[in-house]
Amino acid sequence: MGEVFTFDHPLIQHKLTLLRSKETGPKEFRELADEISTLMAYEVTRDMPIREVEIETPIQTMKANKIAGKKLGIVPILRAGLGMLDGVLKLIPTAKVGHIGLYRDPDTLEPVEYYCKLPTDINERDLIVVDPMLATGGSASAALQFIKDRNPRGIKFMCLVAAPEGIERVQKDHPDVDIFTAAVDEKLNDHAYIVPGLGDAGDRLYGTK
Ligand code: PRP
Ligand code: URA
Repeated sequence: MGEVFTFDHPLIQHKLTLLRSKETGPKEFRELADEISTLMAYEVTRDMPIREVEIETPIQTMKANKIAGKKLGIVPILRAGLGMLDGVLKLIPTAKVGHIGLYRDPDTLEPVEYYCKLPTDINERDLIVVDPMLATGGSASAALQFIKDRNPRGIKFMCLVAAPEGIERVQKDHPDVDIFTAAVDEKLNDHAYIVPGLGDAGDRLYGTK
């Protein structure tokens, strides 16, 4: 069973509260999603292996640690996942980026795929799939399956707000994938929106409705 990691850091909680508020407009919403994603990425990458190298400081040589050449990839689920991409790239700027386009059909609530472009060397990479909202889990589960069919080395899922229903779905469909979320909310409403949630993340990021 994949683990669920939540984030109780005061900065993340504070920024998430601002993000949720309906008073927050698109500009601030984008900035907050970006900042929270950077803060979360610090923890999501905690298990990266390091190796010792020898360097020269202006004073003497020393052995020091560097990331052990691990190849990473970030895969935002379009469109709202783009709101987390730059925040993660700030910490791991050399990661390659893949895109998966999915939207949730408003009637069936099933994910519909419309775009996919992934790094060609995906089987040598550990991937972080990002999407702010994990609601029914349909989109995340479909995206994860799509990526897994191309044999990545490892895969993690990172979101801002998760519903218990979505967590359960991803854990059931993808027991090998750990979930990192800034918050686990109460439930889904009749339209499969997260309660209390933050509304429609894509619309709030881009000012559409
Ligand atoms: C939102 C969100 C997730 C999905 C979550 O995307 O960004 O991808 O819904 O819902 P689920 O867990 O029930 O599948 P949406 O379909 O609104 O598309 P958008 O990102 O293009 O706005
Ligand atoms: N997608 C969103 O953007 N928000 C929700 O609450 C559920 C799905």
